[in-house]
Amino acid sequence: MVLPVPSDDVLPQPMLSPLTPAALFLVVTVAPGGEQAARGVLSGLAGLERAVGFSSPDGALGCVAGVGAEAWDRLFGTPRPTGLHPFRELDGPRHRAVSTPGDLLFHIRAARVDLCFALAAEIMRQLRGAAGVEDEVQAFAYFDSRNLLGFVDGTENPVGRVAADAVLVGDEDPDFRGGTYAVVQKYLHDVDSWEALAVEAQEKVIGRTKLTNLELDVPGSHVDVNTLIGPDGNEQRILRAAMPFGRPGHGEFGTYFIAYARDPEVPEAMLRKMFLGEPPTGHDPILDYSRAVTGTLFFVPSADFLRSIPNRPAPD
Ligand code: HEM
Repeated sequence: MVLPVPSDDVLPQPMLSPLTPAALFLVVTVAPGGEQAARGVLSGLAGLERAVGFSSPDGALGCVAGVGAEAWDRLFGTPRPTGLHPFRELDGPRHRAVSTPGDLLFHIRAARVDLCFALAAEIMRQLRGAAGVEDEVQAFAYFDSRNLLGFVDGTENPVGRVAADAVLVGDEDPDFRGGTYAVVQKYLHDVDSWEALAVEAQEKVIGRTKLTNLELDVPGSHVDVNTLIGPDGNEQRILRAAMPFGRPGHGEFGTYFIAYARDPEVPEAMLRKMFLGEPPTGHDPILDYSRAVTGTLFFVPSADFLRSIPNRPAPD
């Protein structure tokens, strides 16, 4: 079923904007009593973004903020976005998708690292004493949109109207039109085992050729596992904005995975296929070289919702 997307009168946060050379992912938990400061940062986010980014118009600074299930009730009470719940841990026969804490997500992107850094620093300054950091990852674009496994990442992302359809909550949850859900997972790669594979074997894991990025017909590959057909026979889409990160000196090579979706059930169904597996192919082979060390679900309200926070009563 194709649900109507919100009309243009609801302004979303900038999750539909293109990938940038730099990104910073910040996940924090709000301390007891820190709720007012958290509401203040969220309601002032657009202004903060303008203040940091205005003098560098080519910097393409943008920030998307999300709120976790538990924090939602503390910050805004009811109503609550219908699909918002804590990330559901998955314990597969070989691999585990862990669920880790996170009340607020800031997905900051820009053409330059310094802009991401400056915005994150200001957000944290305003949250000082009100929130603790769970995770902070500085990520970067790598060669021609490749991840640290060496493959081009993001090719099959929807664009334009199809992306908006896949991402923006519409009339199915009228209080939250123009919002979206964000699933994040930080993955660490075992690059030594990966690089010990022949390129042909790597291509079978991913389901695309490495150099030329052409799709291969390999049942059970990462691409095959994540091609999800809905009950109406149409492909179910998510919008991925995953970015590489790492510290070579510490042997750390990772992918910060983030997917935006109008219905969290879509990325969750992909995760179930990846981690729990389905006969006859089993789990996603990318997991034999990639370990999820975080996992959190957030709701990303519309930009209009954030702006209206000062007029919304804080829950008791
Ligand atoms: C270790 C972390 C991951 C890496 C390195 C990775 C890498 C890739 C690569 C290289 C592709 C092929 C090119 C493209 O279309 O982007 C791809 C496709 C895709 N991945 Fe991932 N991915 C990861 C995790 C995930 C997760 C957790 C999900 C779902 C929750 C996911 C969903 C998808 C989807 C939907 C596609 C497109 C499938 C299609 O061709 O229709 N990926 N990924």
